[in-house]
Amino acid sequence: MNITVVGVGHVGLVSAAAFARWGHDVVGYDDDAAKVATMQGGAPWFYEPGLQELLSEVTEAGRLRFTSDSDDALRDAEIVFVCVGTPPLPGGGPNLSYVEAVGRTVVAQASRELVLVEKSTVPANTGRRLEQVIARETERLGLEHAIHVASNPEFLKEGAAVEDTLHPDRVVYGTSSDFARDALRAVYAPLVEQDGCPVVETDVASAELIKHASNAFLATRISFINAVAQICDRVGADVQTVAEGMGHDVRIGHRFLQAGLGYGGSCFPKDVDAFAHLASQVGYEFGLLDEVRDINAGQRAAVIRKLEHELWHLNGKTIALLGAAFKPGTDDLRESPALHLADDLIALGAEVRIYDPVALPNVEVQRPDLPRAETIDAALAGAHAAVVCTDWDDIKKIEPQRFLEGLAYPIVIDGRNVYDPEAFIGAGLRYHSMGRTSVA
Ligand code: UGA
Repeated sequence: MNITVVGVGHVGLVSAAAFARWGHDVVGYDDDAAKVATMQGGAPWFYEPGLQELLSEVTEAGRLRFTSDSDDALRDAEIVFVCVGTPPLPGGGPNLSYVEAVGRTVVAQASRELVLVEKSTVPANTGRRLEQVIARETERLGLEHAIHVASNPEFLKEGAAVEDTLHPDRVVYGTSSDFARDALRAVYAPLVEQDGCPVVETDVASAELIKHASNAFLATRISFINAVAQICDRVGADVQTVAEGMGHDVRIGHRFLQAGLGYGGSCFPKDVDAFAHLASQVGYEFGLLDEVRDINAGQRAAVIRKLEHELWHLNGKTIALLGAAFKPGTDDLRESPALHLADDLIALGAEVRIYDPVALPNVEVQRPDLPRAETIDAALAGAHAAVVCTDWDDIKKIEPQRFLEGLAYPIVIDGRNVYDPEAFIGAGLRYHSMGRTSVA
């Protein structure tokens, strides 16, 4: 099929490359000409394992190209995937004006009947709104061809985006016409034939809701185990063993029960807010989601309590923050717990020094005010305490001796539960973790 992907961010670029790999002819469109130029030069504009190789393969095969000319992008499209940003608004809901703008542009430039598919994460009812915009614009412009609205949420994780997209757990699409359903079947037919992955065909609103409910549920799991970690800290239990014991129940499972500094990224914080906002708009107060948010923020407060327990007040103290990215495997800093913690510490008068194996260039651009350390040892040198914020491999491998030699005071707050408490306490460190054995 002739596919156009509008917005070549994390979801758009990886999806475009995957569609091309499945044999479709794909155009990636973005109005950011600099991004398009980077990708026309053959390089993705962000770091994602395996993406460079996949892009080279499909662009060399002539199946994927990029443009910032909307007419060129939409002229031959049979199906258009909307992958533009839906950033949060001050009231908690997402800003859907970019999605609406794409709807208008597609109506103005499409030359045939086509399917407009929301892939950006949007609240239920966005499809209906888009249909309304399209109907009005179609009538205003006196056009003949129909534009069908569909929802096809994406479930990729950053850092595993290529793998998640090429081998998803499921494909979900919601449509309100046979034309749209058949087009989406055709897009995913190669994947379903190769991988046999389950397909959920549904209505547009249900597809939209599956995405928000999935992310909110995963965030709830993380906050649940983080609340359990708080109890573990107080009764001397070990949250990792508790999670393992819980996870053997197949109804619970093991994944997304890792306690620590909490969730960040461009998805969970925004989607939990947006889902709570939607619920409230339609007359249901989803208080559980407020708790999920509060527990998440409380994990940072717990790290600060542990630091204050060791250091008394934090004014004038230097804290080494190990990790800046919101999780390992990405250089993405959006809603990173590490950066929120840095802000909290600075507000208390502390000085921070931040290390990350991959994300430091982004820290330099996005948070030039934060002092950076190019190596782990430079971060530790003379600091009063270290906090593990992101569980990168090189951070996980730090031996107790290295902390003892580098830090001014031997204090380690393991915000991601990556070290062996016995080994660290045994080596003479004042070691604290999140819901596991800590020094008293
Ligand atoms: C998340 C979802 O996992 C994807 O399914 C979804 O498609 C994506 O959002 C999206 O909506 O686009 P992502 O934000 O890339 O993916 O990252 P995750 O791997 O889910 O991690 C999110 C945050 O939760 C990270 O800060 C991570 O450190 C934290 N986390 C994760 C925990 O604190 N504990 C866990 O057990 C798991």
